[in-house]
Amino acid sequence: MSQANQPKPAIWLNGSGGNLITGLPKDRPLNILNLYSGIGGNRKFWGESHNITAVEYDPKIAEIYQNLYPNDTVVVGCALEYLLDNYENFDFIWASPPCPSHSLARHWDASFIDLSLYQIIIFLKKYYKGKFCVENVIPYYQYLIEPSNEIDRHSFWTNFNISGIKYQTKKDVNMEYAKINDWQNILGIYLDDVCCKGVNKIKILRNCVNPKVGELILNQAIKPKPTLLNWGVAE
Ligand SMILES: C[S@@+](CC[C@H](N)C(=O)[O-])C[C@H]1O[C@@H](n2cnc3c(N)ncnc32)[C@H](O)[C@@H]1O
Repeated sequence: MSQANQPKPAIWLNGSGGNLITGLPKDRPLNILNLYSGIGGNRKFWGESHNITAVEYDPKIAEIYQNLYPNDTVVVGCALEYLLDNYENFDFIWASPPCPSHSLARHWDASFIDLSLYQIIIFLKKYYKGKFCVENVIPYYQYLIEPSNEIDRHSFWTNFNISGIKYQTKKDVNMEYAKINDWQNILGIYLDDVCCKGVNKIKILRNCVNPKVGELILNQAIKPKPTLLNWGVAE
């Protein structure tokens, strides 16, 4: 059979010798960009085998992140600018743009929504060849772009299938009254030994994605659960 007549594989390699299903390289650590990193709730269970770069514009929050994840590269700067200049250098990009203007809890005072959320989704869909996840809170308005899934208290836009991911944070306390210790126990992120001078601890903890959700989503990008479509091909 000539090359031209051979049946085409259902899924094409990306030319990098990568994983057949994900297109991500399998012979080297992944380069991961963690934009609007906060203190890295989403990053907690990503392990130490990847090259992770975090971008956070508040130097005090960036310092806490660096303390928690000393092997990551931490950039203090604007996530949007960094994305535009560097997106091609990463295999996986996570972005958590600020949520207050979208939040159900905060729409009482008249204000415009922060459109960087939708700018990033549109930009990544159009120009980015790797895998991405953009995260925000569940908004008070009808989505301008439908998310791939709502998990726990957040919405997620991805270019891979996360529809099967379900997770609900176990809470033994009324979240309205949750104190620093309650948040630390919920997230498994403890700041007692980290210098948090000048930072609102409750706020940075409340801003975190549950680490388990961050882990489930990255794992799904790297090693998708087998389905009827990819059975036996996923590695
Ligand atoms: C929702 S929090 C991130 C939560 C994080 N994904 C986690 O799971 O812990 C958003 C963070 O983005 C930071 N931030 C806001 N605007 C930024 C910008 N233009 N560039 C970089 N960081 C920014 C805030 O200081 C805040 O720490």
